[in-house]
Amino acid sequence: MNGFDGLWLKKLQRTLPPCETPAETAKAELSAFFADRGLGETFALAEDEALGEGYRVCWEGACCRVAGGHTGLLYGAYDVILGLLKGEGRQDLASAPQYPLRMLNAWDNMDGSVERGYSGRSLWFEGGRFDYDPERIRYLGRLLASAHINVLCLNNVNVHAPAQELVSGMLGDLKAFAALLRPFGVRLMVSIDFSLPLSAGLPTADPLDAGVREFWKALADRVWAEVPDLAGFLVKADSEHRPGPNAYGRTHAEGANMLAEAVVPHQGVVVWRAFVYDCMQDWRDAQTDRPCAAYKIYQPLDGDFRDNVILQVKNGPYDFQVREPVSPLLLSLKKTHLALEVQLAQEYTGQQIDLYAMPPMWREIFDVLPKENICSMAAVSNLGRGYFWTGHPFAALNLYAYGRLAWQPDTEPGRMIGDWVRLTYDLNVEDRESLCRLLAGSRNAYEKYTAPLGLCWMVVPHTHYGPCPGGYEFDLWGTYHRADRNAVGIDRTGEGTGYALQYPEKLHELYENLDTCPDEMLLFFHRLSYDWVMRDGRTLIQRIYDDHFEGYEAVRAMAETLRALPLPENDKAEAESRMQRQLRNAREWRDVINTFFHRLSGVSDARGRRIYP
Ligand code: GCU
Repeated sequence: MNGFDGLWLKKLQRTLPPCETPAETAKAELSAFFADRGLGETFALAEDEALGEGYRVCWEGACCRVAGGHTGLLYGAYDVILGLLKGEGRQDLASAPQYPLRMLNAWDNMDGSVERGYSGRSLWFEGGRFDYDPERIRYLGRLLASAHINVLCLNNVNVHAPAQELVSGMLGDLKAFAALLRPFGVRLMVSIDFSLPLSAGLPTADPLDAGVREFWKALADRVWAEVPDLAGFLVKADSEHRPGPNAYGRTHAEGANMLAEAVVPHQGVVVWRAFVYDCMQDWRDAQTDRPCAAYKIYQPLDGDFRDNVILQVKNGPYDFQVREPVSPLLLSLKKTHLALEVQLAQEYTGQQIDLYAMPPMWREIFDVLPKENICSMAAVSNLGRGYFWTGHPFAALNLYAYGRLAWQPDTEPGRMIGDWVRLTYDLNVEDRESLCRLLAGSRNAYEKYTAPLGLCWMVVPHTHYGPCPGGYEFDLWGTYHRADRNAVGIDRTGEGTGYALQYPEKLHELYENLDTCPDEMLLFFHRLSYDWVMRDGRTLIQRIYDDHFEGYEAVRAMAETLRALPLPENDKAEAESRMQRQLRNAREWRDVINTFFHRLSGVSDARGRRIYP
C-alpha cells in the first residue's frame, strides 16, 4: 500500500473511519486534521442545500463554520484543510463550481492494462474483473474529492471484452465500487459499446429500431436500480473503428439521443465523444484534412441533441498534440451542451517521464474559449497502481490542477502550481520558487525540443514517445507535415484546406494572416519555405534549429535545478532518474529533427552548432 506518497494529501496520513455520506467524510476529515494539529480548533457543519456543491466557510475564533450543500460541505472541509496546510491561516472562504460535472476518464481495461497509461496497471481492474484494495480506493476518493473531481469513468472509451459486461453481468461489482466512492462525492460513469445489442443477440444496433431502444431502456433501468447515482454513459462511436450509428445510416445525434432517452428517467447523461475523423486516409489525398473533420460532422447537428447529451470535444482538432489551436467546435456550437476534454496522461507530451506541467497550456485554451461555452470538463486520467500514483511524482500536479481548473477555470496557472508545491513539499521560499519555475517552464521547454511551430506528429508511431519525423507521413491517420526540400507545414487557410474558415471571424483572420498568426501556430496554419523571415528577423529554418538547441539546453538547466532541490528521498530519486531519461529524449529530439531539416533544406546553422550529417 503506497498511501499518499508523492501526492498533495501526503500530510494527511491518518486513515479515515468508514463514512456513508460526503457530510460524514467532511466531519471525519476535519476532526482528524484538527486533532493532529493540536491547536484546539473546532468546527461546525451546517447543511444548506441552496449552496449546492458550493460552500461558505467562516471562522469565529478557533471555530470553523462550514455551510454547504450535499457535497459542498466536503469541498469546504477540504479547502479549509488544504488552506491551513498551505500556511494560509484561518481564512473565510466562499466558493462554487463553474461546472457541475468535473469528470476523470480512466482508460483502464479489465485485463488490468491502461491504454496510454504510464503509471502502472489499473487501480481497480485486473484479470478481467474488479480487483482492488478498498483502502486504496478510499484514498483515491479523498484525492479526487480534495481536488473537487466528482465523476470517475471507470473503463476505457475503447470498450474491450469483458468491459461491455460492466452494465450487465457485473452490476454487483459496479455497485460495490460505487459505494466506496460515494462518501467522497464521486459518482461513477461507464464507457459503453454502441453495438452491445448485437452481443446480446439482437439482430441490429440501429438506434431507430424499436427493439434496440427497448433494449437500452431496460438495461438502463437495471443499471440505475443498482447504482442510482450513476452519472451516465460515455460513448466513443464511429471513431477509430468503434461501432456507431453511421453503420445504420444514422447520425450521431440519432445515436446519442436514443441512449439519452433510455437514461433520462434516471437523471443520467450521455457523454458522446466528438473525436471522429477518417482514420483510413490515403496520404496521397491532400484535400482531406483531419482537423476539419469533427466540425464538418457536428456543426450541422447543432441543436439536434437531446438535453441530457453532452458532446465531449478534445481541446484541439487533432489529438492532444503539444500545440494545437482550440477546436473550432468548442467555439461554434451554440445549441449543444459541450464538455472540454483534456489529457492528463501525457501521451504526446512526455508520458510522465518528461516534465510537462499543464496549467500554462490550459490558460491558453481558456484565453480563447469563453468558459460559458462549455458546461463540463473531462480529463483522461494519469493514475495507476505504481508507487507514485502518477508515474512521475510531479505529474500529480496535473491531476490536482485539473480539479482546480474544472472548478474555476479562471484560476491562475501560477497559483495552481504554487499551491500544489506547497501542499506536497516542505521547502524554503527559495527552493519552492525554484521548483515552481521548473514546473512552469516545463511545457515551453518540451515544445521547443519536440514540435516546431505547431507542426504535429513527428513522434514515433504508436508508442508516441521520441522523435520520428517521417513516422506518420505515409500512414493512414491523416497526420502529415509534408516537409520537402523547400517548405514545410499545411496551408489551412481559405486558399488551402479551409480549416481556418471554421473559426469565428476574428480568430479566422488572426490565423489566416501571416502577419498576425502566432509564431507557435505558424506551421499549423501555413506552409512556409525554409527561408521565410519570421517577425523577429530569423529565417524559419534558423528558428527551428534555435528552438531545438534551446529546448535541450533548457532541460539541462532543469536537471541542474532539480539536483539542487532538497526533496524527500524517494521523490528525488524518481524525479532525477526520469530527468536523465528526459535529457536523453531531448537530445534525441534535438538531433533527429535538426538533422531531418538540415538534410532536406541543405541550410546550415547560422551559429555553427553541430548538426549531424
Ligand atoms: C488517441 C489515442 C488512443 C485513444 C484515442 C481516443 O488516438 O492514441 O489510444 O483511444 O486517442 O481518444 O479515443
